[in-house]
Amino acid sequence: MLANKTLLLLPGDGIGPEVMAQARRVLNWLQKTNRASFEISEDLVGGAAIDVHGVPVTEATMVRALAADAILFGSVGGPKWDSVPFDIRPEAALLRLRKDLGVFANLRPAKVFDALVDSSSLKPELVRGLDIMIVRECIGGIYFGEPRGVETLPDGQQRGINTEVYTTSEIERVGRVAFDLARKRGKRVASVEKSNVMESGLLWRQVMTALRNAEYPDVELSHVLADNCAMQLVRTPKQFDVIVTSNLFGDILSDLASMLTGSLGMLPSATLGAPDSLGHRHALYEPIHGSAPDIAGKGLANPLAQMLSFAMLLRYSFGMDEDALLIERACTNVLASGLRTADVMAPGCARVGTHVMGEAVVRELDKLAA
Ligand code: IPM
Ligand code: MG
Repeated sequence: MLANKTLLLLPGDGIGPEVMAQARRVLNWLQKTNRASFEISEDLVGGAAIDVHGVPVTEATMVRALAADAILFGSVGGPKWDSVPFDIRPEAALLRLRKDLGVFANLRPAKVFDALVDSSSLKPELVRGLDIMIVRECIGGIYFGEPRGVETLPDGQQRGINTEVYTTSEIERVGRVAFDLARKRGKRVASVEKSNVMESGLLWRQVMTALRNAEYPDVELSHVLADNCAMQLVRTPKQFDVIVTSNLFGDILSDLASMLTGSLGMLPSATLGAPDSLGHRHALYEPIHGSAPDIAGKGLANPLAQMLSFAMLLRYSFGMDEDALLIERACTNVLASGLRTADVMAPGCARVGTHVMGEAVVRELDKLAA
């Protein structure tokens, strides 16, 4: 058994707490079966923190987050907080966590489960076996670039400003993450930018080319313009292996890619920082889906993305590949057995809620481990 690992759980808003409760059952299962020992704390974030503390993430939570070995995050936001000032919106918590933790590489797999091939909006033959890894730069670019804001011009008009900025080292470090991942997969990286209109995109392209030639000659690199990438993703998605791109393009393309798989409710993500001299790095794991306020509190949400995010946490933060695989296999088997939450419901399947789905995964874990 591994030594104690500190985990911070931040369930957040909407369906976040419901799906987190199911991930917690998997976590408990690992402890109960002596596969791991975690020191767990839980905190408010997003709207839930605004309601109690007036801010989407408190300084005390930030201190805990910085001290944790890994963070499992639910989702934040909802109509209740639509009118709070921009800089303290629920989403600001997520952006602050990413920025202060320095987690620059957001890994967003878009993987099709065989059992869900028919849930995709694309034809089954286009998506069967699809397995793309999108690596999104996560703490730079237009999300954080200066200058930003809204100013009033002399003629009384207002002007909104955001700035896309990337430095060589910011591009290189996310590029390395993408190339390293590609080496363990299909050895192909598509670097995505708009070098035909943006100087920052041209720099991105040049830096990726130089990095590939200097350090990754064994990996095939292609350059794809962002608009073309969106088109290619819905035309022939299986042409891609690893995609590496900026914060904003990654935000958009990962939503697009995730829908190819049939359900946002299925996809996990990991956001990783740079390893320190001991190999430790900050890491934040979250489902790709949002807080889904329309179904919150109804027990309808699909908990699999949250559970699979926990599996990613085991793999990337603790090197517990075997346990991660076990969880992934359990989720796959439960789907194959025909249990479905509403978002992936199909004819002939049995529709279940959040809790029953979570229970089924734990039961499957028992079976697999027996
Ligand atoms: C995401 C989300 C966030 C983002 C929001 C909630 C700030 O859309 O993680 O993709 O834009 O990064
Ligand atoms: Mg997004």
